[in-house]
Amino acid sequence: MTNRILVLPGDGIGPEITAEAVKVLDACYEEGFDMELVFGKVGGDAIDATGVPLPDETLKAAHDADAILLGAVGGPKWEALEPREHRPEKGLLGIRKGLELYANLRPAILYPQLAEASTLRPEVVSGLDIMIVRELTGDIYFGEPRGFGEKEDGTRYGYNTYISDEKEIRRIGRTAFDLARKRNRKVCSVDKANVLEASMLWREIMNDIAKDYPDVELSHMYIDNASMQLVRAPKQFDVIVTGNMFGDILSDEASMLTGSIGMLPSASLNASGQGMFEPSHGSAPDIAGQNIANPLATILSAAMMLRYSLEAPELADRIERAVGDVLDQGLRTADIMQEGARRVTTSEMGDAVVEAFKRLK
Ligand code: NAI
Ligand code: MG
Repeated sequence: MTNRILVLPGDGIGPEITAEAVKVLDACYEEGFDMELVFGKVGGDAIDATGVPLPDETLKAAHDADAILLGAVGGPKWEALEPREHRPEKGLLGIRKGLELYANLRPAILYPQLAEASTLRPEVVSGLDIMIVRELTGDIYFGEPRGFGEKEDGTRYGYNTYISDEKEIRRIGRTAFDLARKRNRKVCSVDKANVLEASMLWREIMNDIAKDYPDVELSHMYIDNASMQLVRAPKQFDVIVTGNMFGDILSDEASMLTGSIGMLPSASLNASGQGMFEPSHGSAPDIAGQNIANPLATILSAAMMLRYSLEAPELADRIERAVGDVLDQGLRTADIMQEGARRVTTSEMGDAVVEAFKRLK
């Protein structure tokens, strides 16, 4: 069956980095991977062409695709746009909501070749390979009621509602346990069950799910301790599963352990395995159009796409090995440049990965 991939380059460095990931996908195609690439517009790119960040045509193409590869959206050009509904970021939120992409997978991997890029000591982080699984469609970000009010004495207040619903907890929990089975069989569930009722239910359900996975070890941690443990001894973790807000913060913290935002991919999946795959970083307007951005996060996102949505894990492994190979060769874009390494451009890095991919059959 032909795999339909929607490519949304977006804004800033988006077009440059997705072009390199497309080169790698083309190399997969040359070796028999059956795919069809469809290109579309989202974010500022779509606003310029159609006036809205998520044209109907793009959302329809997203529904029809088996997987979506996204660059990044946003930039100063569209920052002052009103109403807010018309900002570039709304394009991404619209796809997440439209496709019910509830599971956000953010690996934090420190390649041994880049151990010095981390702000933590090499012995604390070298070889780090953890996976943060963040619930993406519920929690305090979406709970109602929300808003502003004013007390009788004129004091203003703002409020939000943290609702965790049993079905949502169950499906994200299963995602985490299933992933752990393919890794080191450890899940750490992060919550604030000592204070929040929504967290108490979260913990109860996680314990319940664990009964179906006797081969996976479940532990619990409060969010404040987890934030601390993540910088104290990050290698104690395998899979971390947590809600939308705690996951937002923890995944950014974890990404910085590796010291190189240009290396980190992400996936957002729904119940049918369809997903959107994108680098963890943004559109980097400060370096756009200069052919210096690091394309590896996007190339590794394409690898995650092959593994999680397109059932081609062996191609995913091979792309990841190719990335390791170019790092071994000492090739570095500016953001990960080290003494004695060879500095390459965005497109040279993409070409080198394709070359290594072809060689590493
Ligand atoms: P950013 O991630 O775009 O950039 C932060 C810093 O990292 C910049 O100095 C940038 O040059 C550098 N950087 C990022 N990716 C890089 C790469 N691949 N290679 C080398 N260096 C890289 O975050 P920032 O500056 O906060 O946001 C810029 C724009 O991106 C904003 O409009 C923001 O809203 C948007 N954004 C979009 C996201 C998305 O599309 N998912 C996520 C985060 C931000
Ligand atoms: Mg964030």
